[in-house]
Amino acid sequence: MATMHAVRAHERGGPERLRYETAPRPEPAAGEALVAVRAASVTAGELDWDATWTDSFDGSGHDRTPTIPSHEVSGVVTAVGPGVTTPRVGDAVYALIPFVHDGAAAEFVTLPADILAAKPRRLDHDTAASVPLAALTVWQALARHAGVTPGRHVLVHGAAGGVGSFAVQIAAALGAKVTATASARDAAFVTGLGAERVIDYAGSRFEDEVSDVDVVFDGVGGDTQNRSWSVLRPGGMLVSIVSPPDPEIARAHGARGLFFVVEPDRTGLEAVSRLIDSGKLMPKVDRVVPLTETRAAYEALEREHRRGKVVIHVADEA
Ligand SMILES: NC(=O)c1ccc[n+]([C@@H]2O[C@H](COP(=O)([O-])OP(=O)(O)OC[C@H]3O[C@@H](n4cnc5c(N)ncnc54)[C@H](OP(=O)(O)O)[C@@H]3O)[C@@H](O)[C@H]2O)c1
Repeated sequence: MATMHAVRAHERGGPERLRYETAPRPEPAAGEALVAVRAASVTAGELDWDATWTDSFDGSGHDRTPTIPSHEVSGVVTAVGPGVTTPRVGDAVYALIPFVHDGAAAEFVTLPADILAAKPRRLDHDTAASVPLAALTVWQALARHAGVTPGRHVLVHGAAGGVGSFAVQIAAALGAKVTATASARDAAFVTGLGAERVIDYAGSRFEDEVSDVDVVFDGVGGDTQNRSWSVLRPGGMLVSIVSPPDPEIARAHGARGLFFVVEPDRTGLEAVSRLIDSGKLMPKVDRVVPLTETRAAYEALEREHRRGKVVIHVADEA
């Protein structure tokens, strides 16, 4: 049996469960591609999700341990299963991996070929691996669900975060006027991403300073979501990636509310690649660590302030 190096957890738990070890190398089934991983990304909270440990999102499915975390990948296709025509062996690709599958903290990963998109040409693999989850979440929120078009006013909550930093850039790339909430220490960073105005979430109340917003992108939830209805214009939309908006409150404000969970999506990632290759979207990587340091990377997520993603470098270019 062919083997590989991987980071796995044999029992459910936090970063302390992760071990760097030898594991069976997967083989592509029909419709799948085998990707030689160059880089993967880690996501806060991932080890708490049922999907990381079972084959369902609510924990009702089968135990998948030992599991491999890190569901964003950039790498090179090394084999394809029956029926796969795109991508081809040798293609540089990136993807969001379904959360109920093994992730990419490993030398190889198999995944459905139809969710792989061509890696942005401008980016190396480490930077490309930081893109799929955050960029697809924002693309699906703003382009697919909210239909943001040029001239719209978008308010982004949590604008300095891993997802929010993409929301500011993608909203601006779609031609929107962007107002953002962030901490005062992140104001210059968020302005640099394309926000016309940054409101310090700790020092002021955004609802006193902004109005007639077409779309609220809610990357914070809770009280921030509740206070957002009053800034929307009639018919405006609040899209939350944190918690479902109350439909009755939405109706009372003559607005729409939506919560969704990001899905793997080749078409969306291809649109993201075009934004990156045309210079309209630049991912922010906080730090890059080797595969052997994956556990420390998850530990750091739990306690440190970051600007952008933490990336696991798995292998150099061949
Ligand atoms: N539904 C989906 O498909 C989906 C996909 C991806 C992520 N998510 C969720 O989206 C959320 C954000 O993820 P992330 O990776 O971007 O997290 P993150 O990197 O930790 O960013 C959160 C940002 O929000 C800021 N913040 C905290 N309180 C705020 C407030 N009251 N007003 C404005 N900004 C505030 C934080 O600033 P400080 O550092 O100053 O606290 C930080 O910059 C998480 O809950 C995550 O689970 C959902």
